Amino acid sequence: MTDKPQQNQKKLYIKTWGCQMNVYDSHRISDVLKPLGYALSDTPENADMIVLNTCHIREKATEKVFSELGRLKPHKEKRQAETGERTLLAVAGCVAQAEGDIITQRAPYVDLVFGPQTYHRLPEMVAKLTGARQKKRLIDTDFPVESKFDHLPEEHNSQGAAAFLSIQEGCDKFCTFCVVPYTRGAEYSRSVQSILDEAHKLVDHGAKEINVLGQNVNAYHGDGLDGKAADLPDLLSALSEINGLERLRYTTSHPRDMDDRLIQAHGDLGKLMPFLHLPIQSGSDKILDEMNRKHTSDHYREIIQKLKKVRPDLAMSSDIIVGFPGESDQDFEDTMTLIRDITFVSCYSFKYSARPGTPAASMQNLIREDVKSERLSRLQTLLSEQQYTYNKTFMGQTIPVLFDRKGKEGHKSAGFIQGRSEYNHAIHVKGNERLIGQIIDIHVTETRPSSLTGDVVTSEYDSSHLKVAQL
Ligand code: 5AD
Ligand code: SF4
Repeated sequence: MTDKPQQNQKKLYIKTWGCQMNVYDSHRISDVLKPLGYALSDTPENADMIVLNTCHIREKATEKVFSELGRLKPHKEKRQAETGERTLLAVAGCVAQAEGDIITQRAPYVDLVFGPQTYHRLPEMVAKLTGARQKKRLIDTDFPVESKFDHLPEEHNSQGAAAFLSIQEGCDKFCTFCVVPYTRGAEYSRSVQSILDEAHKLVDHGAKEINVLGQNVNAYHGDGLDGKAADLPDLLSALSEINGLERLRYTTSHPRDMDDRLIQAHGDLGKLMPFLHLPIQSGSDKILDEMNRKHTSDHYREIIQKLKKVRPDLAMSSDIIVGFPGESDQDFEDTMTLIRDITFVSCYSFKYSARPGTPAASMQNLIREDVKSERLSRLQTLLSEQQYTYNKTFMGQTIPVLFDRKGKEGHKSAGFIQGRSEYNHAIHVKGNERLIGQIIDIHVTETRPSSLTGDVVTSEYDSSHLKVAQL
């Protein structure tokens, strides 16, 4: 940002309340006004235009706006009396959107009220207020009934803020309990180019997060951009380059394919989220062998150790089967020990059930249903405790959340907006729907076994904040 004084340069002062979204909007306001000769000023003194970019999240915020307006009124009048210059006083943001009429009633000296959806019309509005046939006052708080995504064709590309992208199908691992290798066939990977093309489209349609999917996703081996084979770390680093894409995840992985390059990617790629779903299935080496998992419990522990070395805050998730044929009490206890050693922040657990056509379906030593149920219940109690203990460590913390939906009507989530932390927590927040699609800082106020609740972090900023950010 260059602030060299120019002829006809006008001073713009912006005071911002609220979350990062509003700070971002203030940047946009200053950007669209730049071609009209407005340069940011640190103080409201002698400003030609003052914008109060407001936040509606707490009631006090509205009162703060009115008291700020009360302070600015004599400023505006004095400047007019002494220099004959008009100071444009504008109220923007969520208070403007929600209470535009009240503002003009309570503060009739305000020249312009505009909502968050109308910034692109700001130069036109300012021109109308300052041009030859000066308008006294303007209000533009149009709010499109549809969200911006609704303008886009109903197609695969518009999945919203958190999107899925299938990069690989099928599986060659042949775990003895699993039907996937028979139903989905051999592993097939898409080319890097076709994945990048789709990722760009998703981002153009509002995706901030992409979760690349495959039955055995870390066995990915597609054609690379250079014609050579590319593996998952290659693909993830290519995806990381996409502007506007802030978060990457991949699901579901096999421990055998967690090679050192992929592990290192968790340390190197800032956009790769610190959450990994890596199914173990059992903590007993005897059962892992019977399952044809091609790894031992120690191998799994070693992978986690290496991952935590490059990404200490990595949160682990898994899949576990109890009651696989031949699973003894000791085998089950080995699974419990492994869970205690690793600590999972979330985990899917299943009672084994025979799938026709799989090798395990003809195994002997079946486990009684009541034993399976008892084991599953003990296992789930332990997993829930781990998850809740982990969630409680977030109490009072400030964490970035990508909001991707609003709560369901008639459900307890009604009235909330919902999103995910970097560690994949489900988060509920009382907040404006316009935050959906954005990554916003949240202050965690309540922790529950499987979700967190919080408040949007808000603050007050003057123009200097915007200038520093622009340097
Ligand atoms: N019985 C129980 N759980 C199974 N899974 C797959 N096949 C079976 C089965 N026959 C579980 C595994 C897998 C997850 C997707 O489903 O834990 O990782
Ligand atoms: Fe493949 Fe996973 Fe099924 Fe094993 S459990 S065969 S790795 S899809």
